[in-house]
Amino acid sequence: MIFMAILTDTYTLANGVAIPKIGFGTWQVQPGQEAYNAVTEALKIGYRHIDTAYAYRNEADVGRAIRDSGIKREDIFVTTKLPAEIKEYDAALDTFNESMANLDIGYVDLYLIHAPWPWGQRGTDHTKGNIAVWSAFEEIYRTGRARTIGISNFAVKDMQAILDHAQVAPMVNQIHWSVGYTEPEITKFAQDHGMLVEAYSPLGTGRLIGNKHIQAVADHYGVSTAQLALRYCIQKGVLPLPRSINPDHIRANQDIDGFTINTEDMRALDELHLR
Ligand SMILES: NC(=O)c1ccc[n+]([C@@H]2O[C@H](COP(=O)([O-])OP(=O)(O)OC[C@H]3O[C@@H](n4cnc5c(N)ncnc54)[C@H](OP(=O)(O)O)[C@@H]3O)[C@@H](O)[C@H]2O)c1
Repeated sequence: MIFMAILTDTYTLANGVAIPKIGFGTWQVQPGQEAYNAVTEALKIGYRHIDTAYAYRNEADVGRAIRDSGIKREDIFVTTKLPAEIKEYDAALDTFNESMANLDIGYVDLYLIHAPWPWGQRGTDHTKGNIAVWSAFEEIYRTGRARTIGISNFAVKDMQAILDHAQVAPMVNQIHWSVGYTEPEITKFAQDHGMLVEAYSPLGTGRLIGNKHIQAVADHYGVSTAQLALRYCIQKGVLPLPRSINPDHIRANQDIDGFTINTEDMRALDELHLR
């Protein structure tokens, strides 16, 4: 089988580690057979980057699919995340060990703080806790059990607080990012400080599918709204993490090599404000 280059093309993180330009998302993919099948299908199609989290409760299924795939461990990039509720050093180390046991794949490629605040308290200040957790991340990084470390859902002030105290700067900020929702301030700050921006919900958790503004541009290239939205991320230097449990969609979402969105269309897409 010939894989499309987009699945094996990589961005390079601040410490030199290569990360495949599209990741396969697994939020809301049910633990058990659904998660196992989706990841198995994605790997079969050629995805080499899987995004999970302790909170998704499917780390064990993701790990099993990876082990059963027969693909060499070093050829797959795996991200998991520390639950947003954990803001203490020891608890962070303990929970990382649980994720390692769940995944059972030897090491993780990227470990992220899932959010700067517990989900029920979005926007509240946990600077002290985030700094404590980040030192646990640095410890994990030093031991080689995570090849890279980063953050997710961090605003500029949250990133600054970590940078002020870090010995190892975060290499990634994974944020809600899509065509029509491009978080310019966070994106610029993160990129200026050496972080790769990963686009979570690059299809707006499905809301962008069939959007008439995106469709109008997609029609210029004979592609779907999903394909256009994902290509847009790549052309912006951002790493999309599309999620699907439908094999046709999983396949279509990586088939975005055969066209380039022209400057005029990129400008029109930049003007969209969608949520
Ligand atoms: N760090 C964080 O806080 C955070 C938060 C949210 C998400 N994430 C990560 O980002 C990933 C993606 O975000 P997301 O889960 O919100 O969803 P998304 O990828 O934006 O959208 C997924 C939805 O789009 C549908 N879809 C996918 N491809 C399609 C296609 N080609 N045609 C039609 N429909 C299609 C899927 O349905 P089907 O299954 O039927 O295809 C699903 O309902 C997550 O899975 C997770 O890994 C991280």
